[in-house]
Amino acid sequence: MRAFVTGATGLIGQRLCRELLEDGHEVVALSRKPQGGDGIEWVQGDATGPGDWQRALDGCDAVINLAGESVAGRRWSAARKRVLVASRVETTNHLVDAIAAAKSPPRSLVSASAVGFYGPRGGTLLREDAAPGRDFLARLCVDWEAAAAGAQRHGVRVVCLRFGVVLSRRGGALAAMKAPYRLGLGGAIGSKGNWFPWVHDDDAVGLTRHALEASWAGPVNVVSPAVVTMGEFARELGRAMHRPILGQVPLPLARLALGEFAYSISPGQKVHPAVAERVGYAFSKALLRDALAECLAG
Ligand SMILES: NC(=O)c1ccc[n+]([C@@H]2O[C@H](COP(=O)([O-])OP(=O)(O)OC[C@H]3O[C@@H](n4cnc5c(N)ncnc54)[C@H](OP(=O)(O)O)[C@@H]3O)[C@@H](O)[C@H]2O)c1
Repeated sequence: MRAFVTGATGLIGQRLCRELLEDGHEVVALSRKPQGGDGIEWVQGDATGPGDWQRALDGCDAVINLAGESVAGRRWSAARKRVLVASRVETTNHLVDAIAAAKSPPRSLVSASAVGFYGPRGGTLLREDAAPGRDFLARLCVDWEAAAAGAQRHGVRVVCLRFGVVLSRRGGALAAMKAPYRLGLGGAIGSKGNWFPWVHDDDAVGLTRHALEASWAGPVNVVSPAVVTMGEFARELGRAMHRPILGQVPLPLARLALGEFAYSISPGQKVHPAVAERVGYAFSKALLRDALAECLAG
């Protein structure tokens, strides 16, 4: 397979590209700041606008779209919200334009989305057919997925991966969460009983690869089948780090580590990976304790 990847320098993209190369596939990766020297064919460009980079997609068998400015760590000012939207929706629109213009277009587009699609939903079990929410992140995900779906008009199979919080030893949300836990200030963000949809990066990448190679289309919840409450997550992370925890972390404190994103995840979402279950995907790290042990080892 010859795969065109956006967000190849990111948490999920780096590992995905490495695995694709190890399995003998060709990787063409778009980056604003290509890193080079690792078997990847780097294309310098910014997908928030059209450009020469769009020609590099011609002749690729699949597109994996993982670009997106981080939602964590900073205040969501009006200007930042525009960047969050443009780096997902505009990039996806320009990818679809490139697909439409290609002489030899790809057969599939696997595009990132997030469980933020569902908005704050309390204890309702959220399978892929659940309705979207109405808050900022939900509307962003709806527009992002609609942009990706535009590729269907060109005969492309489209999968939208609704990632939960990806737990990884290489960074991401867990790296930001670890700092308060080290100080004994970790704990449930918001109410202990709210749900926390998580996935280990083995399975974030595993399901992305499955989506590339399988024949299914549509949205896919990329979360562990063993969804836990915020309280259970805090207890497990405290145990794994050998640190005491607070029962509940006040939101302004959580905001110091996660930015405005803390407010977005605190109401919780009980997301279920119904499609992964139906296609028989075997999770590598279905249990939080195993996932955290791997992420924190060494
Ligand atoms: N990790 C999670 O917990 C999680 C959860 C839910 C959804 N997701 C979504 O899944 C995708 C991949 O996640 P990730 O954690 O691997 O992301 P990441 O590590 O934050 O990397 C995202 C990539 O997007 C590109 N990017 C960042 N800001 C951009 C901007 N303003 N304009 C254009 N491109 C920009 C960067 O590529 P260059 O700098 O090389 O151009 C970067 O490699 C993202 O869209 C993310 O929103 C992730």
